[in-house]
Amino acid sequence: MAAAAAGVSIPTGCLGGSCGACEIDVNGTTVRACVAVVPGGRPVGLIVEFADDPHW
Ligand code: FES
Repeated sequence: MAAAAAGVSIPTGCLGGSCGACEIDVNGTTVRACVAVVPGGRPVGLIVEFADDPHW
């Protein structure tokens, strides 16, 4: 939802956290976007990159 609000489209597959199609790097940590949450609290800058996976 946060990515969509920022105008970023993230590829998806299972939408349940098991396939890895939605993996992105957030501040240097790879997360599965379909099951990840944006932490609350003080606003901080986020650097989001799509994971580079030659199998997808
Ligand atoms: S869409 Fe499959 S892990 Fe996110």
